[in-house]
Amino acid sequence: MRQTLTEIYDLRVAEGLIRPDAAQRAVLPLLESRRALLETPPKKGLLGGLFRKPEPVRGLYLWGGVGRGKSMLMDLFAGATDIGAKRRVHFHAFMQEIHAGLHAARKTGVDDALAPVAQAVADQVRLLAFDEMQITDITDAMIVGRLFQMLMDQGVMIVTTSNRVPEDLYKNGLNRALFLPFIALIRARMEVVELESETDYRQHRLSGAQVWFAPAGAGARQAVDALWRELTGGDPGAPLEFAVQGRKVQVPRHHNAVARAGFWDLCGRPLGPADYLALAERVRVLILEDIPRLSAENYNEAKRFVTLIDTLYEAKVRLIASAADQPERLYLEGAGSFEFERTASRLREMQGADWGA
Ligand SMILES: Nc1ncnc2c1ncn2[C@@H]1O[C@H](COP(=O)(O)OP(=O)(O)OP(=O)(O)O)[C@@H](O)[C@H]1O
Ligand SMILES: [Mg+2]
Repeated sequence: MRQTLTEIYDLRVAEGLIRPDAAQRAVLPLLESRRALLETPPKKGLLGGLFRKPEPVRGLYLWGGVGRGKSMLMDLFAGATDIGAKRRVHFHAFMQEIHAGLHAARKTGVDDALAPVAQAVADQVRLLAFDEMQITDITDAMIVGRLFQMLMDQGVMIVTTSNRVPEDLYKNGLNRALFLPFIALIRARMEVVELESETDYRQHRLSGAQVWFAPAGAGARQAVDALWRELTGGDPGAPLEFAVQGRKVQVPRHHNAVARAGFWDLCGRPLGPADYLALAERVRVLILEDIPRLSAENYNEAKRFVTLIDTLYEAKVRLIASAADQPERLYLEGAGSFEFERTASRLREMQGADWGA
């Protein structure tokens, strides 16, 4: 039997998987109406075409503070909407595909490269569910308005989450005047809703929880597994892959902005600040396992580790780790061991119950 989103939500509450939240619940009917629209096949036939103007498809722009449950609601909606032609994708990843498409289209010498790229997307999907729309890159800022316009004109429904109200997108960005039509488009063609929940559930789930496990071993792994399940709602996750300056960066497991990797995955490969920054932009929580004791012999790994922690710290990413020892005892000798004190101190701070709140 088909359940409404509210029924599914209430069931999860009854099962103790989530806590009842009036603000989250208030958003469900808005998602439900979009689901209904998508699940109704488009009217075909002469009469339908002649006498009924197609209804304007209004997307949804759901915004609010971190950890309020935007991605959770998006998962619920995208998962329950019973159409094949849907895509739930991180906004960043989608834009990378668009840029790749543009690159290829330009080679064909077409006048307006964006048109065939948008058409190809519209041919494949009726629902685009973007998690975490944020625009920091000028190349995104300059095309996103026309891209969304074309997609919407082709009847693609766009549902998106964001930490910012539309007016604050690409704030202080270069050539921002050229970006303003996009904000107007969002206001005209999408319903803008704030998720006003008071609780940061991510913080809630982690606050007070131990997040540094030493020594790394079977016990630590079990504890980390439990936190991973808690944060991902039992989803097994999938590898996360993104490109930075043409390089491919891979993280073994990822789900809803929670990433999980081993020390050697991130610090044992030739990655640098730009890669860590790109990772920090995509995740809210990083689980880093099996951090070894470091010394002059693995100077490069230690240096990368310091860069990684600095980047996570600046970006206020939460860290869950298993390590050979406590932060202060990880790197006692070798070049840069003095500087490592600052890293250890940051690692301490990042373990605080309200860190990243
Ligand atoms: N009502 C709830 N009860 C318990 N846990 C919840 C509830 N809503 C969300 N969560 C959990 O809290 C965590 C954060 O939720 P979610 O990732 O959906 O937040 P978000 O609004 O997308 O945050 P961000 O802006 O950082 O992406 C997730 O682990 C999610 O499963
Ligand atoms: Mg989210």
